[in-house]
Amino acid sequence: MTEVISSLARWYDIRRGVKSTTLGFVPTMGDLHDGHLALVRRSIAENERTMVSLFVNPTQFDDPADLVAYSRPRKADEGKLQHLGADFVFCPEYAILYPDGFTYHVDETALSRQLCGRCRPGHFKGVLTVVMKLLGIAQATRAYFGEKDYQQFLLVRGMADAFFLSTEIVLCPTVRDPDGLALSSRNARLSGPQRAGAGRFHRLLLEAESPSLAEALLGQAGFEVEYVEEYAGRRFGAVRLGGVRLIDNVAHR
Ligand code: PAJ
Repeated sequence: MTEVISSLARWYDIRRGVKSTTLGFVPTMGDLHDGHLALVRRSIAENERTMVSLFVNPTQFDDPADLVAYSRPRKADEGKLQHLGADFVFCPEYAILYPDGFTYHVDETALSRQLCGRCRPGHFKGVLTVVMKLLGIAQATRAYFGEKDYQQFLLVRGMADAFFLSTEIVLCPTVRDPDGLALSSRNARLSGPQRAGAGRFHRLLLEAESPSLAEALLGQAGFEVEYVEEYAGRRFGAVRLGGVRLIDNVAHR
């Protein structure tokens, strides 16, 4: 039976009760799809207990319209987690996570300014701050993050190392639709024809000879390109299709 928790006191009570068991933690913003659920399955397989958080974190949205448009199907999400057998679903209110009003934050000053950070000022400051808070609350053995947001994973793992956090940060492979498009909550905002062409983003990222060629080919295919860049042996890209922002990254030889 999955227990939905919204108060810190209740969670700390539970955490004390399962102190000596391994706890896996999967932070999400909800609107769960198979990419999220793969993380939850892995956590359930590797830990005695699993906690999933559902919290649309306002401090990481650089675009207020994106925050408003973000889908929050809470009951459907809870149903999916119940079905998988997650033990705890943590759904805090903003005031519970931000008693300080975001006057305290975690900032990283190198990688967070590159790639997506260049196009989304303040985004990773919001991400790292909320992940630090959630890791502090969860006190998990392991926390699971998706390769789809590889820059986020690198920054979270770097933060865990820099602050000597005891939770192991685990990377899980990107889950894709058959045409290669990485699953994302934002894909639902694409129109039928936009969705039909969206798989080319992944293919061109993978196949183009160079980042600049990928940018040119994506432009010709109707994508508005934010960037294609290589970093740490991977090729990263961000594009817009009809106003919907899509990101992806692939291992690069
Ligand atoms: P969200 O976008 O909801 O994603 C939650 C987790 O699911 C992240 O680790 C993300 O990388 C992973 N994920 C999303 N789509 C995936 C896919 N197609 N395949 C594999 N994993 C996928 O990322 C966030 O939320 C937030 O920034 C958060 C870390 C919760 C902080 O607010």
